[in-house]
Amino acid sequence: MGEHRAQNWTPTSWRQKPIQQVPDYPDAAALAATEAQLESFPPLVFAGEARRLKKALANVADGNGFLLQGGDCAESFAEHGADTIRDFFRAFLQMAVVLTFGAQQPVVKVGRIAGQFAKPRSSNVERQGDVELPSYRGDIINGIEFTSEARIPNPERQLMAYRQSAATLNLLRAFAMGGYANLENVHQWMLGFVKDSPQAERYRKLADRISETMDFMKAIGITSENNPSLRETDFFTSHEALLLGYEQALTRVDSTSGDWYATSGHMIWIGDRTRQADHAHVEYCRGIKNPIGLKCGPSLTADGLLELIDLLNPANEAGRLTLICRFGHDKVAEHLPRLIRAVEREGKKVVWSCDPMHGNTITLNSYKTRPFERILNEVESFFQIHRSEGTHPGGIHIEMTGKDVTECTGGARALSGADLGDRYHTHCDPRLNADQALELAFLLAERMKGGRDEKKLVVNG
Ligand code: PEP
Ligand code: CO
Repeated sequence: MGEHRAQNWTPTSWRQKPIQQVPDYPDAAALAATEAQLESFPPLVFAGEARRLKKALANVADGNGFLLQGGDCAESFAEHGADTIRDFFRAFLQMAVVLTFGAQQPVVKVGRIAGQFAKPRSSNVERQGDVELPSYRGDIINGIEFTSEARIPNPERQLMAYRQSAATLNLLRAFAMGGYANLENVHQWMLGFVKDSPQAERYRKLADRISETMDFMKAIGITSENNPSLRETDFFTSHEALLLGYEQALTRVDSTSGDWYATSGHMIWIGDRTRQADHAHVEYCRGIKNPIGLKCGPSLTADGLLELIDLLNPANEAGRLTLICRFGHDKVAEHLPRLIRAVEREGKKVVWSCDPMHGNTITLNSYKTRPFERILNEVESFFQIHRSEGTHPGGIHIEMTGKDVTECTGGARALSGADLGDRYHTHCDPRLNADQALELAFLLAERMKGGRDEKKLVVNG
Protein backbone atom coordinates (compact mmCIF):
# COMPACT_ATOMS: atom_id res chain seq x y z
CA MET A 1 0.00 0.00 0.00
CA GLY A 2 1.19 3.47 -0.77
CA GLU A 3 4.30 2.21 -2.64
CA HIS A 4 3.06 3.77 -5.79
CA ARG A 5 2.29 7.19 -4.45
CA ALA A 6 2.48 9.77 -7.23
CA GLN A 7 5.73 11.74 -7.31
CA ASN A 8 5.67 15.49 -6.71
CA TRP A 9 1.96 15.51 -6.30
CA THR A 10 -0.21 17.33 -3.78
CA PRO A 11 -3.96 18.02 -3.83
CA THR A 12 -3.05 21.54 -5.03
CA SER A 13 -0.32 20.73 -7.59
CA TRP A 14 -2.89 21.01 -10.43
CA ARG A 15 -2.96 24.77 -9.76
CA GLN A 16 0.52 25.14 -11.33
CA LYS A 17 -0.65 23.63 -14.64
CA PRO A 18 -2.48 25.03 -17.64
CA ILE A 19 -6.20 24.36 -17.35
CA GLN A 20 -9.22 24.19 -19.68
CA GLN A 21 -12.88 24.85 -18.96
CA VAL A 22 -12.43 27.08 -15.89
CA PRO A 23 -15.37 29.22 -14.84
CA ASP A 24 -14.71 32.91 -14.48
CA TYR A 25 -15.65 33.57 -10.84
CA PRO A 26 -15.92 37.33 -10.33
CA ASP A 27 -15.18 37.18 -6.59
CA ALA A 28 -11.99 35.22 -5.86
CA ALA A 29 -12.26 35.76 -2.10
CA ALA A 30 -15.79 34.35 -1.99
CA LEU A 31 -14.63 31.33 -4.00
CA ALA A 32 -11.72 30.71 -1.61
CA ALA A 33 -14.03 31.03 1.40
CA THR A 34 -16.41 28.45 -0.07
CA GLU A 35 -13.60 26.03 -0.83
CA ALA A 36 -12.33 26.41 2.75
CA GLN A 37 -15.80 25.64 4.02
CA LEU A 38 -16.05 22.53 1.84
CA GLU A 39 -12.73 21.38 3.21
CA SER A 40 -14.27 21.27 6.66
CA PHE A 41 -17.27 19.17 5.55
CA PRO A 42 -17.43 15.39 5.93
CA PRO A 43 -16.39 13.21 3.00
CA LEU A 44 -19.24 11.96 0.80
CA VAL A 45 -17.74 8.52 0.21
CA PHE A 46 -15.09 6.44 1.95
CA ALA A 47 -11.76 5.24 0.63
CA GLY A 48 -12.66 1.64 1.47
CA GLU A 49 -15.69 1.88 -0.84
CA ALA A 50 -13.55 3.23 -3.67
CA ARG A 51 -11.16 0.34 -3.14
CA ARG A 52 -14.03 -2.12 -3.28
CA LEU A 53 -15.13 -0.64 -6.60
CA LYS A 54 -11.56 -0.83 -7.89
CA LYS A 55 -11.48 -4.50 -7.03
CA ALA A 56 -14.74 -5.11 -8.87
CA LEU A 57 -13.37 -3.23 -11.88
CA ALA A 58 -10.15 -5.26 -11.72
CA ASN A 59 -12.27 -8.36 -12.36
CA VAL A 60 -13.86 -6.61 -15.33
CA ALA A 61 -10.41 -5.71 -16.68
CA ASP A 62 -9.53 -9.41 -16.40
CA GLY A 63 -12.56 -10.32 -18.49
CA ASN A 64 -14.91 -11.33 -15.68
CA GLY A 65 -17.72 -8.87 -15.33
CA PHE A 66 -19.36 -5.93 -16.98
CA LEU A 67 -19.49 -2.26 -15.98
CA LEU A 68 -22.84 -0.51 -16.22
CA GLN A 69 -22.34 3.24 -15.78
CA GLY A 70 -25.11 5.71 -16.38
CA GLY A 71 -27.25 8.61 -15.28
CA ASP A 72 -27.95 12.22 -16.11
CA CYS A 73 -25.72 14.22 -18.37
CA ALA A 74 -26.06 16.93 -15.72
CA GLU A 75 -27.89 16.63 -12.42
CA SER A 76 -29.98 19.68 -11.63
CA PHE A 77 -31.05 21.49 -8.48
CA ALA A 78 -34.59 21.90 -9.81
CA GLU A 79 -35.15 18.18 -10.37
CA HIS A 80 -33.77 17.05 -7.03
CA GLY A 81 -36.40 14.83 -5.46
CA ALA A 82 -37.07 11.33 -4.16
CA ASP A 83 -39.14 10.29 -7.19
CA THR A 84 -36.45 11.21 -9.71
CA ILE A 85 -33.84 9.27 -7.75
CA ARG A 86 -36.12 6.25 -7.26
CA ASP A 87 -37.13 6.17 -10.92
CA PHE A 88 -33.52 6.33 -11.99
CA PHE A 89 -32.46 3.63 -9.55
CA ARG A 90 -35.29 1.35 -10.63
CA ALA A 91 -34.51 1.72 -14.35
CA PHE A 92 -30.85 1.14 -13.57
CA LEU A 93 -31.61 -2.02 -11.54
CA GLN A 94 -33.78 -3.34 -14.35
CA MET A 95 -30.92 -2.85 -16.79
CA ALA A 96 -28.48 -4.48 -14.39
CA VAL A 97 -30.66 -7.53 -13.88
CA VAL A 98 -31.15 -7.96 -17.64
CA LEU A 99 -27.40 -7.70 -18.18
CA THR A 100 -26.50 -10.05 -15.33
CA PHE A 101 -28.88 -12.64 -16.71
CA GLY A 102 -27.59 -12.20 -20.25
CA ALA A 103 -23.91 -12.12 -19.47
CA GLN A 104 -24.02 -14.57 -16.54
CA GLN A 105 -21.35 -12.32 -15.10
CA PRO A 106 -21.32 -9.83 -12.27
CA VAL A 107 -22.47 -6.37 -13.30
CA VAL A 108 -20.64 -3.50 -11.61
CA LYS A 109 -23.16 -0.72 -11.04
CA VAL A 110 -21.91 2.87 -11.17
CA GLY A 111 -24.29 5.84 -11.41
CA ARG A 112 -23.52 9.19 -12.99
CA ILE A 113 -25.14 10.64 -9.91
CA ALA A 114 -24.63 12.32 -6.54
CA GLY A 115 -22.02 14.73 -7.91
CA GLN A 116 -22.48 14.95 -11.70
CA PHE A 117 -23.00 18.71 -11.85
CA ALA A 118 -20.19 20.40 -13.80
CA LYS A 119 -20.24 20.51 -17.60
CA PRO A 120 -17.48 21.19 -20.12
CA ARG A 121 -18.72 23.33 -22.99
CA SER A 122 -17.54 23.61 -26.58
CA SER A 123 -18.17 27.36 -26.56
CA ASN A 124 -17.68 29.92 -23.76
CA VAL A 125 -20.74 31.81 -24.91
CA GLU A 126 -24.29 31.02 -25.90
CA ARG A 127 -26.15 33.17 -28.41
CA GLN A 128 -29.93 33.54 -28.59
CA GLY A 129 -31.04 36.03 -31.22
CA ASP A 130 -28.95 39.13 -30.69
CA VAL A 131 -28.06 38.33 -27.12
CA GLU A 132 -24.81 36.66 -26.17
CA LEU A 133 -24.21 35.36 -22.62
CA PRO A 134 -21.65 33.13 -20.92
CA SER A 135 -22.50 29.44 -21.43
CA TYR A 136 -24.28 27.39 -18.79
CA ARG A 137 -21.65 25.19 -17.09
CA GLY A 138 -23.78 23.07 -14.79
CA ASP A 139 -25.75 23.86 -11.65
CA ILE A 140 -22.63 23.66 -9.47
CA ILE A 141 -21.30 26.72 -11.36
CA ASN A 142 -24.08 28.90 -12.78
CA GLY A 143 -27.80 28.92 -13.64
CA ILE A 144 -29.37 27.55 -16.81
CA GLU A 145 -31.77 30.51 -17.23
CA PHE A 146 -30.77 32.71 -20.13
CA THR A 147 -30.14 35.90 -18.13
CA SER A 148 -26.85 37.63 -17.47
CA GLU A 149 -27.47 37.38 -13.74
CA ALA A 150 -27.98 33.58 -13.77
CA ARG A 151 -24.90 32.97 -15.88
CA ILE A 152 -22.47 34.56 -13.40
CA PRO A 153 -20.54 31.75 -11.65
CA ASN A 154 -21.56 31.67 -7.99
CA PRO A 155 -19.46 29.72 -5.44
CA GLU A 156 -22.48 29.20 -3.14
CA ARG A 157 -23.69 26.70 -5.73
CA GLN A 158 -20.85 24.37 -4.72
CA LEU A 159 -22.33 24.11 -1.24
CA MET A 160 -25.73 23.33 -2.71
CA ALA A 161 -24.22 20.66 -4.97
CA TYR A 162 -22.41 19.11 -2.01
CA ARG A 163 -25.60 18.96 0.06
CA GLN A 164 -27.66 17.60 -2.82
CA SER A 165 -25.01 14.94 -3.42
CA ALA A 166 -25.12 13.95 0.25
CA ALA A 167 -28.92 13.67 0.25
CA THR A 168 -28.95 11.74 -3.04
CA LEU A 169 -26.28 9.36 -1.80
CA ASN A 170 -28.19 8.82 1.41
CA LEU A 171 -31.27 7.69 -0.49
CA LEU A 172 -29.25 5.55 -2.91
CA ARG A 173 -27.56 3.77 -0.02
CA ALA A 174 -30.98 3.09 1.51
CA PHE A 175 -32.31 1.74 -1.80
CA ALA A 176 -29.24 -0.44 -2.34
CA MET A 177 -28.96 -1.83 1.17
CA GLY A 178 -32.37 -1.39 2.76
CA GLY A 179 -34.51 -3.87 0.85
CA TYR A 180 -35.57 -2.11 -2.35
CA ALA A 181 -32.84 -3.87 -4.36
CA ASN A 182 -33.81 -7.30 -2.94
CA LEU A 183 -34.05 -9.66 -5.92
CA GLU A 184 -37.34 -10.88 -4.50
CA ASN A 185 -38.70 -7.50 -5.60
CA VAL A 186 -37.79 -8.10 -9.23
CA HIS A 187 -41.51 -7.97 -10.15
CA GLN A 188 -42.15 -4.84 -8.12
CA TRP A 189 -39.59 -2.97 -10.18
CA MET A 190 -42.19 -3.31 -12.98
CA LEU A 191 -44.27 -0.56 -11.40
CA GLY A 192 -42.33 2.08 -13.24
CA PHE A 193 -43.28 1.00 -16.73
CA VAL A 194 -45.32 3.47 -18.68
CA LYS A 195 -48.57 2.13 -20.10
CA ASP A 196 -48.03 -0.20 -23.09
CA SER A 197 -44.28 -0.12 -22.69
CA PRO A 198 -42.78 -2.30 -25.42
CA GLN A 199 -40.20 -3.58 -22.94
CA ALA A 200 -42.63 -4.51 -20.17
CA GLU A 201 -43.53 -7.97 -21.48
CA ARG A 202 -39.93 -8.86 -22.14
CA TYR A 203 -39.01 -7.75 -18.65
CA ARG A 204 -41.91 -9.64 -17.07
CA LYS A 205 -40.73 -12.88 -18.66
CA LEU A 206 -37.25 -12.37 -17.30
CA ALA A 207 -38.59 -11.49 -13.85
CA ASP A 208 -40.62 -14.73 -13.90
CA ARG A 209 -37.51 -16.75 -14.59
CA ILE A 210 -35.62 -15.01 -11.80
CA SER A 211 -38.47 -15.61 -9.35
CA GLU A 212 -38.54 -19.27 -10.30
CA THR A 213 -34.82 -19.54 -9.66
CA MET A 214 -35.26 -17.77 -6.32
CA ASP A 215 -38.02 -20.23 -5.35
CA PHE A 216 -35.73 -23.12 -6.18
CA MET A 217 -32.91 -21.63 -4.13
CA LYS A 218 -35.29 -21.03 -1.24
CA ALA A 219 -36.28 -24.69 -1.38
CA ILE A 220 -32.68 -25.69 -0.86
CA GLY A 221 -32.20 -23.17 1.92
CA ILE A 222 -30.68 -20.12 0.21
CA THR A 223 -32.86 -17.12 1.04
CA SER A 224 -32.47 -13.37 1.07
CA GLU A 225 -32.51 -13.53 4.86
CA ASN A 226 -29.45 -15.74 5.05
CA ASN A 227 -27.75 -14.41 1.93
CA PRO A 228 -27.04 -10.67 1.76
CA SER A 229 -26.08 -10.79 -1.94
CA LEU A 230 -29.73 -11.52 -2.76
CA ARG A 231 -31.13 -8.62 -0.78
CA GLU A 232 -28.43 -5.97 -1.18
CA THR A 233 -26.49 -4.61 -4.08
CA ASP A 234 -23.29 -2.64 -4.43
CA PHE A 235 -24.07 0.68 -6.04
CA PHE A 236 -21.34 3.25 -6.65
CA THR A 237 -21.31 6.91 -7.69
CA SER A 238 -19.27 8.74 -10.31
CA HIS A 239 -18.95 12.10 -12.03
CA GLU A 240 -16.61 14.08 -14.23
CA ALA A 241 -13.92 15.68 -12.06
CA LEU A 242 -14.13 18.99 -13.88
CA LEU A 243 -14.39 21.62 -11.16
CA LEU A 244 -11.03 21.01 -9.52
CA GLY A 245 -11.37 23.52 -6.67
CA TYR A 246 -14.38 21.53 -5.45
CA GLU A 247 -12.55 18.23 -5.96
CA GLN A 248 -9.50 19.48 -4.10
CA ALA A 249 -11.60 20.53 -1.11
CA LEU A 250 -12.98 16.98 -0.87
CA THR A 251 -9.61 15.27 -1.34
CA ARG A 252 -8.70 13.53 1.89
CA VAL A 253 -6.03 11.21 3.29
CA ASP A 254 -7.35 7.75 4.03
CA SER A 255 -6.30 6.92 7.56
CA THR A 256 -5.84 3.19 6.91
CA SER A 257 -3.53 3.44 3.89
CA GLY A 258 -2.19 6.99 4.13
CA ASP A 259 -3.22 7.50 0.49
CA TRP A 260 -5.13 10.43 -0.99
CA TYR A 261 -8.66 9.84 -2.20
CA ALA A 262 -11.27 11.94 -3.91
CA THR A 263 -14.24 11.67 -1.54
CA SER A 264 -16.71 13.48 -3.83
CA GLY A 265 -17.65 10.15 -5.46
CA HIS A 266 -16.34 6.60 -5.78
CA MET A 267 -15.12 6.94 -9.36
CA ILE A 268 -14.26 10.12 -11.22
CA TRP A 269 -13.44 10.60 -14.86
CA ILE A 270 -11.51 12.98 -17.09
CA GLY A 271 -13.52 14.45 -19.97
CA ASP A 272 -12.55 14.36 -23.62
CA ARG A 273 -11.87 18.10 -23.59
CA THR A 274 -9.62 18.15 -20.52
CA ARG A 275 -7.35 15.14 -21.00
CA GLN A 276 -4.14 17.01 -22.04
CA ALA A 277 -1.27 15.09 -20.43
CA ASP A 278 0.50 18.18 -19.04
CA HIS A 279 -2.64 20.00 -17.89
CA ALA A 280 -4.45 20.36 -14.58
CA HIS A 281 -7.13 17.65 -14.80
CA VAL A 282 -4.68 14.85 -15.49
CA GLU A 283 -2.39 16.25 -12.79
CA TYR A 284 -5.16 16.15 -10.18
CA CYS A 285 -6.33 12.65 -11.09
CA ARG A 286 -2.92 11.01 -11.15
CA GLY A 287 -2.47 11.59 -7.42
CA ILE A 288 -5.69 10.17 -6.04
CA LYS A 289 -6.24 6.45 -5.62
CA ASN A 290 -9.86 6.11 -6.76
CA PRO A 291 -10.79 4.25 -9.91
CA ILE A 292 -10.45 6.72 -12.79
CA GLY A 293 -12.23 6.98 -16.12
CA LEU A 294 -10.70 8.54 -19.20
CA LYS A 295 -12.90 9.66 -22.07
CA CYS A 296 -11.35 8.66 -25.39
CA GLY A 297 -12.55 10.59 -28.44
CA PRO A 298 -11.45 10.60 -32.10
CA SER A 299 -8.56 13.04 -31.55
CA LEU A 300 -6.75 10.72 -29.11
CA THR A 301 -3.68 9.11 -30.70
CA ALA A 302 -2.30 5.73 -29.66
CA ASP A 303 0.86 7.35 -28.30
CA GLY A 304 -1.19 10.00 -26.52
CA LEU A 305 -3.23 7.26 -24.86
CA LEU A 306 -0.14 5.33 -23.77
CA GLU A 307 1.33 8.51 -22.27
CA LEU A 308 -1.87 9.09 -20.32
CA ILE A 309 -1.96 5.48 -19.14
CA ASP A 310 1.57 5.79 -17.80
CA LEU A 311 0.70 9.00 -15.98
CA LEU A 312 -2.59 7.77 -14.54
CA ASN A 313 -1.73 4.16 -13.87
CA PRO A 314 2.06 3.81 -13.62
CA ALA A 315 1.79 0.59 -11.61
CA ASN A 316 -0.49 -0.97 -14.26
CA GLU A 317 -3.01 -1.85 -11.58
CA ALA A 318 -6.12 -3.57 -12.94
CA GLY A 319 -9.31 -1.68 -12.03
CA ARG A 320 -7.61 1.69 -11.73
CA LEU A 321 -8.31 2.86 -15.28
CA THR A 322 -11.43 2.61 -17.42
CA LEU A 323 -11.19 3.82 -21.00
CA ILE A 324 -14.56 5.27 -21.94
CA CYS A 325 -14.64 5.26 -25.73
CA ARG A 326 -16.92 7.83 -27.40
CA PHE A 327 -16.11 8.01 -31.06
CA GLY A 328 -19.46 8.09 -32.84
CA HIS A 329 -21.19 5.29 -34.74
CA ASP A 330 -19.39 6.16 -37.96
CA LYS A 331 -15.94 6.61 -36.40
CA VAL A 332 -15.59 3.75 -33.96
CA ALA A 333 -14.28 1.31 -36.59
CA GLU A 334 -11.60 3.81 -37.56
CA HIS A 335 -10.36 4.63 -34.07
CA LEU A 336 -11.00 1.81 -31.62
CA PRO A 337 -8.82 -0.92 -33.18
CA ARG A 338 -5.66 1.22 -33.17
CA LEU A 339 -6.12 2.07 -29.49
CA ILE A 340 -6.87 -1.54 -28.53
CA ARG A 341 -3.75 -2.74 -30.37
CA ALA A 342 -1.50 -0.19 -28.68
CA VAL A 343 -2.85 -1.06 -25.23
CA GLU A 344 -2.53 -4.79 -25.89
CA ARG A 345 0.97 -4.45 -27.32
CA GLU A 346 2.12 -2.69 -24.14
CA GLY A 347 0.27 -5.11 -21.87
CA LYS A 348 -1.71 -2.37 -20.14
CA LYS A 349 -4.59 -3.43 -17.92
CA VAL A 350 -7.72 -1.40 -18.58
CA VAL A 351 -11.48 -1.72 -18.63
CA TRP A 352 -12.84 -0.97 -22.10
CA SER A 353 -16.16 0.79 -21.87
CA CYS A 354 -18.37 2.19 -24.63
CA ASP A 355 -20.02 5.61 -24.36
CA PRO A 356 -22.33 5.53 -27.40
CA MET A 357 -23.86 8.91 -26.54
CA HIS A 358 -21.32 11.69 -26.94
CA GLY A 359 -20.18 10.95 -30.49
CA ASN A 360 -23.75 10.69 -31.78
CA THR A 361 -25.33 14.05 -30.99
CA ILE A 362 -27.16 15.85 -33.79
CA THR A 363 -29.53 18.82 -34.01
CA LEU A 364 -33.09 18.17 -35.15
CA ASN A 365 -35.91 20.75 -35.10
CA SER A 366 -33.47 22.89 -33.10
CA TYR A 367 -33.23 20.23 -30.35
CA LYS A 368 -29.97 18.50 -29.52
CA THR A 369 -30.83 14.82 -29.90
CA ARG A 370 -29.36 11.37 -30.47
CA PRO A 371 -30.87 8.79 -32.77
CA PHE A 372 -31.30 5.48 -30.92
CA GLU A 373 -30.18 3.52 -34.02
CA ARG A 374 -26.82 5.28 -33.97
CA ILE A 375 -26.39 4.55 -30.28
CA LEU A 376 -27.11 0.85 -30.89
CA ASN A 377 -24.86 0.93 -33.90
CA GLU A 378 -21.88 2.21 -31.95
CA VAL A 379 -22.45 -0.39 -29.22
CA GLU A 380 -22.68 -3.19 -31.81
CA SER A 381 -19.45 -2.06 -33.48
CA PHE A 382 -17.73 -1.80 -30.11
CA PHE A 383 -18.64 -5.41 -29.32
CA GLN A 384 -17.69 -6.70 -32.76
CA ILE A 385 -14.32 -4.97 -32.72
CA HIS A 386 -13.46 -6.36 -29.30
CA ARG A 387 -14.51 -9.83 -30.43
CA SER A 388 -12.22 -9.66 -33.43
CA GLU A 389 -9.32 -8.19 -31.43
CA GLY A 390 -9.76 -10.85 -28.75
CA THR A 391 -10.31 -8.27 -25.99
CA HIS A 392 -13.12 -7.91 -23.46
CA PRO A 393 -15.89 -5.39 -24.18
CA GLY A 394 -16.10 -4.53 -20.51
CA GLY A 395 -18.76 -1.91 -20.11
CA ILE A 396 -21.18 0.72 -21.21
CA HIS A 397 -21.46 4.38 -20.21
CA ILE A 398 -24.78 6.05 -20.98
CA GLU A 399 -26.83 9.14 -20.31
CA MET A 400 -30.24 8.01 -19.13
CA THR A 401 -33.12 8.81 -16.82
CA GLY A 402 -35.87 6.78 -15.19
CA LYS A 403 -38.44 9.20 -16.57
CA ASP A 404 -40.43 9.01 -19.78
CA VAL A 405 -38.66 11.90 -21.47
CA THR A 406 -38.49 12.56 -25.22
CA GLU A 407 -34.87 13.51 -25.80
CA CYS A 408 -33.40 10.76 -28.01
CA THR A 409 -35.27 9.75 -31.18
CA GLY A 410 -36.10 6.16 -32.17
CA GLY A 411 -36.41 3.08 -30.00
CA ALA A 412 -39.33 0.66 -29.94
CA ARG A 413 -41.76 3.55 -29.55
CA ALA A 414 -40.20 5.23 -32.58
CA LEU A 415 -39.94 8.75 -31.15
CA SER A 416 -39.66 11.21 -34.02
CA GLY A 417 -38.19 14.67 -34.34
CA ALA A 418 -41.70 16.06 -33.91
CA ASP A 419 -42.03 14.34 -30.49
CA LEU A 420 -38.92 15.96 -29.03
CA GLY A 421 -40.79 19.01 -27.75
CA ASP A 422 -43.17 16.92 -25.60
CA ARG A 423 -40.97 16.16 -22.62
CA TYR A 424 -37.50 17.51 -23.33
CA HIS A 425 -36.15 18.20 -19.84
CA THR A 426 -32.40 17.63 -19.89
CA HIS A 427 -30.10 20.30 -18.52
CA CYS A 428 -27.45 19.41 -21.03
CA ASP A 429 -27.28 16.41 -23.38
CA PRO A 430 -30.25 14.24 -24.49
CA ARG A 431 -30.76 11.11 -22.37
CA LEU A 432 -32.24 7.70 -23.07
CA ASN A 433 -35.62 7.37 -21.39
CA ALA A 434 -36.40 4.36 -19.19
CA ASP A 435 -37.81 2.33 -22.11
CA GLN A 436 -34.92 3.07 -24.43
CA ALA A 437 -32.38 2.29 -21.71
CA LEU A 438 -33.98 -1.09 -21.06
CA GLU A 439 -34.19 -1.85 -24.76
CA LEU A 440 -30.47 -1.18 -24.99
CA ALA A 441 -29.86 -3.52 -22.04
CA PHE A 442 -31.81 -6.34 -23.73
CA LEU A 443 -29.80 -5.90 -26.88
CA LEU A 444 -26.53 -5.90 -24.96
CA ALA A 445 -27.57 -9.02 -23.08
CA GLU A 446 -28.11 -10.80 -26.40
CA ARG A 447 -24.67 -9.75 -27.60
CA MET A 448 -23.05 -10.92 -24.39
CA LYS A 449 -24.87 -14.23 -24.52
CA GLY A 450 -23.63 -14.59 -28.10
CA GLY A 451 -20.07 -13.96 -26.94
CA ARG A 452 -20.45 -16.55 -24.20
CA ASP A 453 -21.73 -19.20 -26.58
CA GLU A 454 -18.85 -18.45 -28.93
CA LYS A 455 -16.34 -18.89 -26.11
CA LYS A 456 -17.95 -22.20 -25.17
CA LEU A 457 -17.68 -23.34 -28.78
CA VAL A 458 -13.98 -22.52 -28.77
CA VAL A 459 -13.42 -24.37 -25.48
CA ASN A 460 -15.45 -27.41 -26.52
CA GLY A 461 -14.49 -27.43 -30.18
C1 PEP B 1 -20.15 13.87 -20.61
O1 PEP B 1 -19.89 12.70 -20.29
O2 PEP B 1 -21.21 14.45 -20.28
C2 PEP B 1 -19.20 14.57 -21.50
C3 PEP B 1 -19.16 15.89 -21.58
O3 PEP B 1 -18.46 13.71 -22.21
P1 PEP B 1 -17.16 13.94 -23.10
O4 PEP B 1 -16.10 14.48 -22.21
O5 PEP B 1 -16.87 12.53 -23.57
O6 PEP B 1 -17.52 14.86 -24.23
CO1 CO C 1 -23.19 14.60 -21.67
